[in-house]
Amino acid sequence: MDRIRIRGGQALRGRIAIGGSKNAALPLMAASLLTGETLSLANLPHLADIATMANLLAELGVQVGMNGDAPGGHSGRVFDLTAGDPGDKIAPYDLVRRMRASVLVLGPLLARWGEARVSLPGGCAIGTRPVDLHLDGLRPLGAEIELEEGYIHARAPGGLVGGHILFPSVSVGATENLLMAAVLAKGETQIANAAREPEVADLARCLVAMGAEIEGIGTDTLRIQGAEELHGANYQVIPDRIEAGTYAVAAAITGGDLALDGADFETMDALADILGRSGAEVTKIDGGVQVRQGARAILGVDVMTEPFPGFPTDMQAQIMTLMAVSEGASMITESIFENRFMHVPELCRMGADINVHGASAIVRGVARLSGAELMATDLRASVSLILAGLAAEGETIVNRVYHLDRGYERIEEKLTGCGAVIERLQD
Ligand code: UD1
Repeated sequence: MDRIRIRGGQALRGRIAIGGSKNAALPLMAASLLTGETLSLANLPHLADIATMANLLAELGVQVGMNGDAPGGHSGRVFDLTAGDPGDKIAPYDLVRRMRASVLVLGPLLARWGEARVSLPGGCAIGTRPVDLHLDGLRPLGAEIELEEGYIHARAPGGLVGGHILFPSVSVGATENLLMAAVLAKGETQIANAAREPEVADLARCLVAMGAEIEGIGTDTLRIQGAEELHGANYQVIPDRIEAGTYAVAAAITGGDLALDGADFETMDALADILGRSGAEVTKIDGGVQVRQGARAILGVDVMTEPFPGFPTDMQAQIMTLMAVSEGASMITESIFENRFMHVPELCRMGADINVHGASAIVRGVARLSGAELMATDLRASVSLILAGLAAEGETIVNRVYHLDRGYERIEEKLTGCGAVIERLQD
């Protein structure tokens, strides 16, 4: 299994190209199931999760054509996705268990073919992560749903019909599944308490490009007029705000100065606010975002994760690592997922002073972390250990980096280009 070795202490300076958003790309790929015409998606990142979704779609009868790379390596791929007859319409356990987002094929399969069998998902080990909101959302559209032998079996023999859904709590995936179901349901659907994440808005815009009628994009109330059928489209995935945010923290924690090319400042408000209050300078520049820390002290700031536009849970582990070396203390509260503090024991092994009380962690800043051998547990926890290693004294080895490869494209290459001493060790 690959490991990553880092020699810490270098201030990162230079430019990093931000790739397409993984979390936007996955539902967009699933949307290809809604039409028999070709959906061409550009700016797809080259990541394990994208390959998993491509394999799942291929299993469901979608032809996946790779239509060239953008210049400069494998970033910015173009996929042409053309859905055929999905046959048994089964998303098998073996593929779904690798990635929770696989459940996103449920809405489009059911809407177009009136039936779907999707394995109950696995994914990151961060809490129970049920799919009840997805299923309870589909029922008002006429779906009959049963759980059988680890599979969700959904049917709508006469097709889905429009309905009103009020989500009891905000879910990105459930909003996306419902949106994809509603665009082919008969009549009007209203989704209240919808997730407002930029990735949801990106899906909605792509569906509109495919012929769907959606009002309220980017708000918590979506109104959809169902269409008989959708058509193909060419669509470009938005930049990855979490990848950009992670490199923003890398600049801050190393006392560096990075230009994040392609990053979208508008989707990074909550993080920019926290970084700004902790002493970094985060500015919008032409075509990206600049983050400068330099010799300024890192100050402790309290952070609470919330649905967008609040501070993203996918940046919680990274910001905690920054707070671990701040001057002062910080309370970090995780309000989205339970059990998302698995990076804490590893950071403590590097000398961090962090105490978890329920959903909050009290982080008392220490002057420096020291390098150690560490174990990655989930995607964002892994990258927080990389950030810790960049700031630490001495050598850090991060094991089980396959988690990292689910969400960060060529991370060693991008960091090395800015002065980090980091390499992948292949066993
Ligand atoms: C998406 C992101 C993930 C991010 C999360 C929250 C993708 C592929 N993944 O995950 O990176 O961390 O949003 O921003 O886009 N919940 C239920 N029942 C459900 C669905 C969710 O109780 O049916 C709970 C979850 O356990 C969690 C909360 O709702 O506590 C939010 O989860 P959700 O927004 O659905 O996350 P995902 O869409 O899985």
